Amino acid sequence: MSNKTKTGRYQRILRQIEELIGATGSPWSRMSTIVALLHHKMPDFFWTGFYYLDNGDLVVGPYQGPVACLKLKKDTGVCWAGINEKRSLIVPDVEKFPGHIACSSLSKSEIVVPVYNKTGKIVAVLDVDSKKLNAFDEIDQNELEKIVTLIFESSSK
Ligand code: SME
Repeated sequence: MSNKTKTGRYQRILRQIEELIGATGSPWSRMSTIVALLHHKMPDFFWTGFYYLDNGDLVVGPYQGPVACLKLKKDTGVCWAGINEKRSLIVPDVEKFPGHIACSSLSKSEIVVPVYNKTGKIVAVLDVDSKKLNAFDEIDQNELEKIVTLIFESSSK
């Protein structure tokens, strides 16, 4: 997919999410809607979901794709790195990421984007895996960072 096609697709997804999420302020409903849209509209998204912090554990939230690990070993892997470093991470080749947790051996590359609540605290990460190596770039990062800000945005209805 060209950069232009990809950006256009993300823009349409963003608009669609904006339209839909006004119906409820529930972060769970919004996260579920976001993963459904992303997973079905982005061709290389093999696993798309959220892991959220639950009393110090990082556990799986709404997702689409193959069954995934329910809980991630503390301070290990890409999702925990995103939480601990408070930043998005693009992993072009998961086998080269020390401690990477393979929920599926088919996943080859990955992106993780932190989710902040209204008070600016990290509460979750959006995690996307691809069966392709090097599937994610700065466009994905920028657009996904925009999308996750909608989870805790004030509801208009
Ligand atoms: N690979 C992740 C674990 C979650 S699965 O990709 C769905 C990690 O290393 O944290």
